[in-house]
Amino acid sequence: MINLIGHKLGEYTIVVKLGEGGMAEVYRANEAAMNRDVAIKVIDPAHQNSPDFTAKFEREARTIASLSHPHIVKIFTFGVMRGFHLKFIDPLADARKDLAWFAMELMPGGTLHDLIRERPLTVAEIRLYLHDLADALDYAHGRGVVHCDLKPRNVLLDSQKNGFLCDFGIAAIIGQPEKRSENDSLVGTPVYMAPEQWTGAETGIWTDVYALGVMLYEMLAGKPPFEEPTPYAMFQAHMHGPVPEFTRTDVPDTMMAVIERAMAKEPDARYASAGELARDFDKALGVQRSRYSSEIQARRAGAAPAAIVDALPVALPKTTPLPANPPQANTASTVPASTIRMYQITIIVMLAIIVMLLVICVGLLSAR
Ligand SMILES: Nc1ncnc2c1ncn2[C@@H]1O[C@H](COP(=O)(O)OP(=O)(O)OP(=O)(O)O)[C@@H](O)[C@H]1O
Ligand SMILES: [Mg+2]
Repeated sequence: MINLIGHKLGEYTIVVKLGEGGMAEVYRANEAAMNRDVAIKVIDPAHQNSPDFTAKFEREARTIASLSHPHIVKIFTFGVMRGFHLKFIDPLADARKDLAWFAMELMPGGTLHDLIRERPLTVAEIRLYLHDLADALDYAHGRGVVHCDLKPRNVLLDSQKNGFLCDFGIAAIIGQPEKRSENDSLVGTPVYMAPEQWTGAETGIWTDVYALGVMLYEMLAGKPPFEEPTPYAMFQAHMHGPVPEFTRTDVPDTMMAVIERAMAKEPDARYASAGELARDFDKALGVQRSRYSSEIQARRAGAAPAAIVDALPVALPKTTPLPANPPQANTASTVPASTIRMYQITIIVMLAIIVMLLVICVGLLSAR
């Protein structure tokens, strides 16, 4: 692709390349007016398959940029550099193809894909990622946006390893992964592709639920459920293959049923929403919803994630269920009950003495 380092896209000066995927390059860029660094994703002009690409990009980008959720990477702005301008940067550029870009939040912690390969995730960590991502998906689905390219590489991490979904709508702009140009390798994304994506049937919320099921499996097992060597074998596995069992002593056997339902071959047999999948994950662990809510609230209030993760109940196969209403500290009264009892006894004794004195006085007066 065109070398953009040192050039400007809108208000942003491109500084260094951060990475690249099958259809885009990502750079760190500086916005001088705001004195901040951002990430810029530049869509490779080679992936502009349709003549109305720019109009489609602008339409989709507007929707994606309007998403505002604590676990979706923020899009600051987007733009298009016309093909004839690109000629000034690179004389070999195709003047008929525009260059589309997004400026977004810079995420310094790598991706969930890297983290899964670095070390096994604890059940508590998996639970936090699952709930955060499910929440983000339910929010986007509620606004009519389906991801359709959900995978751990599209979960970016901040410095505290919190997860944020990115690349919403990119599949809609560029086309489904299986519909990309012939030169594109199928390795990577097919691992998460639902049967309907392989056959070209209708995609929707159910497609994201399937991919979230694959991601959940991968977080628990450390590897995805299907690792077939060829696209055809991968297709067969997703269409007809059973989800292989994984061994993990800190997760009950019933978790397989949760993954199998998320990854059901028939879309109708899957969970109706990502949130429903996350709630069934909790049920399989024997974790109470009320307790989960307080953990999340504590985290959103700024507690360090690591501390919260350690505090989470990592449910073992046969854990004792948590009490429905855990004992609460009494913040309404600061006086212990024993002290109140002492006050009561003292008052009764004093009243008795006063009564006795009154009786003696009355007795003495009447004796005169
Ligand atoms: N907002 C961001 N902040 C920091 N780094 C980012 C950001 N977005 C993407 N990256 C980096 O750029 C790399 C390439 O991202 P990109 O989305 O283009 O590819 P991908 O998701 O890995 O694969 P593909 O696009 O082929 O599905 C990512 O792996 C990540 O390391
Ligand atoms: Mg990506």
